[in-house]
Amino acid sequence: MQIRKASAGEMLSLWEYDDLSKASNTAKYFYQNIESGNAVFWTMEHDGKLIGELYVFRDIPFDRDFADGKTTAYLCAFRIEKEYRGRGLGTRLMETVLADLKAAGFRRVTIGVGPEEELNVRLYHRMGFTEKIKDCHADPCAMDADMNPAPDDCFWLLAKNL
Ligand SMILES: CC(C)(COP(=O)(O)OP(=O)(O)OC[C@H]1O[C@@H](n2cnc3c(N)ncnc32)[C@H](O)[C@@H]1OP(=O)(O)O)[C@@H](O)C(=O)NCCC(=O)NCCS
Repeated sequence: MQIRKASAGEMLSLWEYDDLSKASNTAKYFYQNIESGNAVFWTMEHDGKLIGELYVFRDIPFDRDFADGKTTAYLCAFRIEKEYRGRGLGTRLMETVLADLKAAGFRRVTIGVGPEEELNVRLYHRMGFTEKIKDCHADPCAMDADMNPAPDDCFWLLAKNL
C-alpha cells in the first residue's frame, strides 16, 4: 500500500473521463487546480490500482473560511474503495496528508460533512475535526453549469488545528 501525490491526468482517469473536453465542470475544476498547484490529489495505491483519494485545496477564493492559501487548507472528496473500507486505510491517508500540510506551514484544516452522515461525523470527530465553523449550502469545489459553486444540501464545515 503506497500513499503518494498523483497527477491531474490520473484524477481524470480515476473519474472515468478519457479527456478533459468531455469531463464534467467539477472534474475540470479539480483538474485545473491540480495543474496550477492550488490543489493536491493524494492517493493510496495497491497492486498498481488507485484505491483511495483525498484532495487538498490550498485556497478557496469563493469562501476563505474553507481555505485561505496560507494557514487554512480545505480537504474534500475523501474516498476509499468499498472493499478496502474499515481497515484503517482512510485514517492512514488522512494522517499523511495532515503531516504534509503541517510541514508546509498550514495551521488549520477544514472538511465538510452532512449532518446525516453519522459514520463520517464520528470518524472526523475521532480524527480531530471537533470545531464546527458553520452550516454551508454550496459546495465550493462542485461546479454548476456556469463554473460557480453548486448549491448543495446543508452540510457542516468542520475544522481541526494542526
Ligand atoms: C470515509 C472513508 C474515506 C473512510 O475510510 P476507511 O478506510 O473506511 O476509514 P478507516 O478504516 O480508517 O476508519 C473507519 C471509520 O470510517 C467510518 N466509515 C464511514 N463510512 C464507512 C463505510 N462505508 N465503511 C466502513 N467504515 C466507514 C467507520 O465508522 C469508522 O469510524 P469509527 O472508527 O468512528 O467507527 C470511507 O469509508 C469512504 O470512502 N466512504 C464513502 C465516501 C465518503 O462518505 N467519504 C466522505 C465524505 S466526502
